[in-house]
Amino acid sequence: MKKNKKSGGILKKITDNTEETIEYYDRIWSNSFRTQTIGEELLPGFHYGFFEKGVKTLNDAMYNMNDFVSRLLDLEENKTMEILDVGCGAGCTSLYLAERYPDIRFSGISLAPNEIALAKKNAKNKHINSTKFILGNYLDTRFPDGSFDAVYALESMSYAIDKKAFVNEMYRILKSNGKLAIIDGFRKDIPPTCLMEKIYNSHRKTRGRPDLANLSMFKTYLKEIGFKDIEISNISKNIRRHFISVLFNILTGFSLSMIKADTKNKKHASKRREYRHVSMKILLDSFFGLVGISTFNSITATKK
Ligand SMILES: C[S@@+](CC[C@H](N)C(=O)[O-])C[C@H]1O[C@@H](n2cnc3c(N)ncnc32)[C@H](O)[C@@H]1O
Repeated sequence: MKKNKKSGGILKKITDNTEETIEYYDRIWSNSFRTQTIGEELLPGFHYGFFEKGVKTLNDAMYNMNDFVSRLLDLEENKTMEILDVGCGAGCTSLYLAERYPDIRFSGISLAPNEIALAKKNAKNKHINSTKFILGNYLDTRFPDGSFDAVYALESMSYAIDKKAFVNEMYRILKSNGKLAIIDGFRKDIPPTCLMEKIYNSHRKTRGRPDLANLSMFKTYLKEIGFKDIEISNISKNIRRHFISVLFNILTGFSLSMIKADTKNKKHASKRREYRHVSMKILLDSFFGLVGISTFNSITATKK
């Protein structure tokens, strides 16, 4: 089993895909096209935009996904809570919510050192003291049993090779009656001989991704492990416009960061190429959602 050099061996119990995931996200969060803040705003995150009535732009939809998390967890002002953001990436959702809910303490755990470094830097720049970001593996978080009132995984659970181990660890670290929220892609049952299935499988491997969880099997895990009040909602239609916007951006080259780029600068040119490359992968992810390989769902469940 390989260990990531930069993490200094912190990440024990490394599963097969973690090296690829670390490499992928370290590259993303070292790219200045991705890490630029938009004016005074914190970055929205690295997730799909949640479109609904009144949400017009891709950026707004990405912030709205953070609001959607707060709705799933019934966050309230003046309510003290301990919350864990599982696979927090650059901590964008936690930081966004921490600004809105000053009485809630947010912890975030993620695999790639560049993500955690950026999360800490942004917390410091925005003088947010209610967040804490930790480099680690969510399958072995090392938090004591019953640490959190709520735990959410925004587009991160799908990276777990062992989905049942993921659910187990979430159950362990939640307090009794604590709430789990997961937003992610889930597999449809497609025959393995199907051409689209083959293309999908080779694509996901380039993202360091294991196969998506099967929705009904995942629900069974939640029940078996002891969760109650399981609610599942198909939100595929809410993220569809993200795909269309990314496609538009790629085709026209009209992404915000590209407009700002110095087109003659070689360093910028390679960063821009990389940015496009990642955008293409995201586009493919969305495409497979659209052609019916997967559906995008939100799940909430409560620990007994
Ligand atoms: C699509 S990104 C989402 C990041 C963040 N939730 C957001 O919305 O901006 C997936 C995240 O899952 C994290 N991740 C994947 N496998 C992980 C693991 N085993 N332990 C901790 N984090 C993991 C990656 O490092 C990455 O930050």
